[in-house]
Amino acid sequence: MSGSDLVFKVSPGGCLKGEIRVAGDKSISHRSIMLGSLANGVTEISGFLEGEDSLATLNAFRAMGVKIDGPDNGNVTVHGVGLHGLKAPHGVLDLGNSGTSMRLLSGLLSGQAFDVEMSGDGSLNSRPMKRVSVPLGSMGAIVEGTEAGTPPLKVKGGQALKGIRYKMPMASAQVKSSLLLAGLYAEGETCVIEPAPTRDHTERMLQGFGYEVRVDGRTACLSGGGELQATCIDVPADISSATFFMVGAAIAADSDVLLLHVGINPTRIGVINILRLMGGDIELQNERVVGGEPVADIRVRSSQLRGIQIPEEQVPLAIDEFPALFIAAACAEGDTVLTGAEELRVKETDRIQVMADGLKALGVDAEPTADGMVIRGGEMSGGSVDSGGDHRIAMSFAMAALRATGEVKIADCANVNTSFPGFVALARGAGLQIGSQNGE
Ligand code: S3P
Repeated sequence: MSGSDLVFKVSPGGCLKGEIRVAGDKSISHRSIMLGSLANGVTEISGFLEGEDSLATLNAFRAMGVKIDGPDNGNVTVHGVGLHGLKAPHGVLDLGNSGTSMRLLSGLLSGQAFDVEMSGDGSLNSRPMKRVSVPLGSMGAIVEGTEAGTPPLKVKGGQALKGIRYKMPMASAQVKSSLLLAGLYAEGETCVIEPAPTRDHTERMLQGFGYEVRVDGRTACLSGGGELQATCIDVPADISSATFFMVGAAIAADSDVLLLHVGINPTRIGVINILRLMGGDIELQNERVVGGEPVADIRVRSSQLRGIQIPEEQVPLAIDEFPALFIAAACAEGDTVLTGAEELRVKETDRIQVMADGLKALGVDAEPTADGMVIRGGEMSGGSVDSGGDHRIAMSFAMAALRATGEVKIADCANVNTSFPGFVALARGAGLQIGSQNGE
């Protein structure tokens, strides 16, 4: 799964046009497999993301004895086994590049009767897991990683879990979700209090499966001992994948795109809020609610962006969108300042450092700070950048070529398939002059 061999070469200039449906939402796809597997009855999913990350989750549940048909054109049928119906897998669960799989499964597997070991690729195996193993430990779970708190993780089954009230030190939907999933198996009430709102797909989907979740401001609580009932899930297009086209259309003159059926959950729309503050021309059309999640078509036309101080309360609402927003900042007039985003340092790569290095390689004045970046907008040259195997960084620099003065060559791009298979063809169809080839 290492992507060291795939290179994107993107010719400078052009614009983006047309109606585009991007890949399915990654967060919702993971959760649909998890909850569908634990439910009583058959769950039908449409719009499922057939990317490596969500497929890692799907394969993990197959390995634990769940019958899953598909994916076939985004359609998946999950034959739920109930909360206590999973079986011990034969080997180590390989979760590839997927932090969401590993963190959410840590909680869910803490409630099982059997032991499991989980591992991943080089990136995942260097990411922090104490953020879940420590609070899960206070619930009575045993989740053990390396000395440094990284995977492989061993989850010991057969523990009696008890509910806790946990104040999260960082704004993390993965930690919140992990504890709530463990809470399904715990005695009494599990409550998670977040320092700032984070994506609430777990809470919404649990409710969709008929499980009571009590949400009051920044606190989400549930009680163990209930059951999940199978349902139908229509996964909207992923706003995080739509972001590359939103930024591309905003920065490239004469662009006009309509992004179809995109999830606009209020905990995910930081990118819209931030681009609008920068002067972006973004219109939401045909707003509707699909299966408990708000959805819209998003029209974006080019505009002259201006640099801003990004409001810190928007950071968790746009946490996956900063690689692309940094490209927008590089094309804006004036300085853009990001603070309060230290979480970016522990994503698939250190996204502050890797993005700053790439921007500098394109001649952009970008200064990384401990918790963000200062970017001076101006001209961008062509050049060679390295994505570090980070899907979102690869796609962000691809869009940068729309405004660069020379070809942009991006190394280590195979992991684009973790979240957005078909990106190259879709982007090319919209007007990006992108080619991909195995590296020299
Ligand atoms: C996710 C939560 C976010 C996000 C990740 C997906 C989720 O991580 O970066 O891509 O599906 O819960 P954190 O919760 O660690 O911020």
